[in-house]
Order: sequence, then structure tokens, then C-alpha cells
Amino acid sequence: MEKHTGKQIALTGDRPTGRLHLGHYVGSLKNRVKMQDEFKQFVMVADVQALTDNAENPDKVRNNVIEVALDNLAVGVDPAKTTFFIQSMIPEIAELTVFFLNLVTVARLERNPTIKNEMRQKGFEGNVPAGFLAYPVSQAADILTFKATHVPVGDDQLPVLEQANEISHKFNSLYGETFSKIESIISHAPRLMGIDGGAKMSKSLGNAIFLSDDTETIKKKVMQMYTDPKHIHVNDPGSVEGNVVFDYLTIFDPKQDEVNEFKAEYRKGGLGDTVIKNRLADVLENIISPIREKREYLATKPDYVMNVLLEGTKEARKVAAETMAEVKKVMKINY
Ligand code: TRP
Repeated sequence: MEKHTGKQIALTGDRPTGRLHLGHYVGSLKNRVKMQDEFKQFVMVADVQALTDNAENPDKVRNNVIEVALDNLAVGVDPAKTTFFIQSMIPEIAELTVFFLNLVTVARLERNPTIKNEMRQKGFEGNVPAGFLAYPVSQAADILTFKATHVPVGDDQLPVLEQANEISHKFNSLYGETFSKIESIISHAPRLMGIDGGAKMSKSLGNAIFLSDDTETIKKKVMQMYTDPKHIHVNDPGSVEGNVVFDYLTIFDPKQDEVNEFKAEYRKGGLGDTVIKNRLADVLENIISPIREKREYLATKPDYVMNVLLEGTKEARKVAAETMAEVKKVMKINY
């Protein structure tokens, strides 16, 4: 633990509800690989949070704990630099959640835009599980148990972090200065569209390319991609804006001068969709194949992967115990 002394603390988490995809890769995983050199970094497998809307699917959550760990390890999040842990194995987080629940109102939770949105998506309006409504409280506990100062998230999570700061501020004002402010780090990467042209790549929308997809699947998904519905004949002028293939080429193709030439030709007319799709399939294959290979290799070593999670959890628990001792002292429940 000492090797990280003096570094600022970053913490992020993934809900284990499915494998991770290219949107996660550009939006957060790549950033974790970079941040692990600059921060003391924790990466949490958020199984407790996943259960807030999957209470009836324990197998799904359990199976995806390993999948999410594999995705992180395969892209290069390194257990020698990053502390991985399983949320449910840190009982201090649950304890802190209970104390924090006294510091928020139900009305404030119901007004949280992230929660409102997700309730609509999940059909929870009018019958929301209390644990789901309160997940911002438990997320505040995830972060503050480790005294994390920096939390990289997608912009959809900003209201959750804002509420975490409110909780921490209220705690400090009641019991004395214990937690410092949480800074959110918003990914600069543009949000990746789905292959259907939808605003966001998402496993539940069925428009994702996964880091574990094989060559054929990548090719098939690229061939299905939304382009320009008005570009019917090769010689018709085509639109590059809102065209998923060009959007991805702009983000992923290492040869941007060639992409620019393609764009000009496509706009003018004379460049067929198949040509640019074949190119994109190659570009994505080059990015995903080393990740997929490492993932497949690690998948043959489930004991190793589980051990990474358990060893990290052991280290994380030491930090959690220190915070909890301090919390109980200031709350005068340190009997
Ligand atoms: N809510 C986050 C998501 O939807 C996952 C998460 C749980 C998290 N706890 C966290 C992220 C703490 C950052 C910090 O992806």
C-alpha cells in the first residue's frame, strides 16, 4: 500500500451486468490505463449496485463479475498499479451507506436527474425499489470509503457525484471535517454512437460492438452500420455527418489524412459504402484483436482473475477499516 503514498486517489466502478464494449473503451477504460500511473487507482466491480435493479437476476450479476474484470485486464488495467475490488466484499461501504441515508431526503433523490432518467428507462416510475432510488447514496459511500478525490465518469453520472458532494458536505458540517471534495473527471472522448446511429452505444439497446467480439462478428456489425439512407447509388453524393462509419473512422483510424480524402470523395459521390465499411472493419479488428486475444488467454485462467479481485479486495478493506474507524469516532458510535 505504501508505494502509492502521496498520490491522489481515483476510484471508478463498473456494474457487472454485461461485457464491456467499444463505448466503454473510448469513454473510460483507456483513461484507466493512463490514470493508473498518476493516481492511486481503485476499480470497483459494483455488484451491489448492479443488484439494485437486478435483484431477481443474481446469476447474471455473478457471471458478469468475471467478464467485467476480464475486460479491464485485457485492455491493460494492471493489477500491479490498480487495486481491483468487489463492492459486496467491503461491508464498510454498506455501513457508511446506512449513515449517509440519514443525510438525504427521499424528495432530493427523486429529483436526481440520473435517477429520474434511469427510472424512466427501466420502467420503475411509481414502483421503484428503495435500493435503486438510493443508489446515489451508496455510490457516495463507494467513493468516500476510500477517500477518493477524483472520479472519472460519463457525463450522465454527474448528478450522482453532485449529490455525493452534498452528502459529504453535510457529514462534515454535522460531525467535523472528515471528507474532502470529490472532483469528477469527464472523459474528453466523444460519446460513441451505436452501430444503428443511436446517440449512445449500449448493450441494452443491442447496438454495441464488444471488446470480446470475434472477427466475423465485428465485420457483420460494421456491414449493418447506419450510413446515409439517401446514398443509394455509388455515384450519389453522400453525407458524412451522422454517418456511423465515418464517425468511427474519425475516432479510430490512425490515418486521418486518408479518412479526410474518403470524406471528400463520399460527399462528392463515387465512393461506395462497402469500401469504407471494409476499411473500418480492418481498423476495428486491429484495435480489438490484441484485446480479444489477451481476454481469451486470461479467460483460461479464472483462478488468476479471481485472485486479482480477492487480493485487491483485501488491500481495499484495510483502507475501508481506517475510514470507518474515523467515521465512527466523529459520529460518537465508537464503543
Ligand atoms: N454508477 C456507475 C455506472 O453506472 C458505476 C459506479 C458505481 C461508480 N459506484 C461508482 C462509478 C463509484 C464511479 C464511482 O457506471
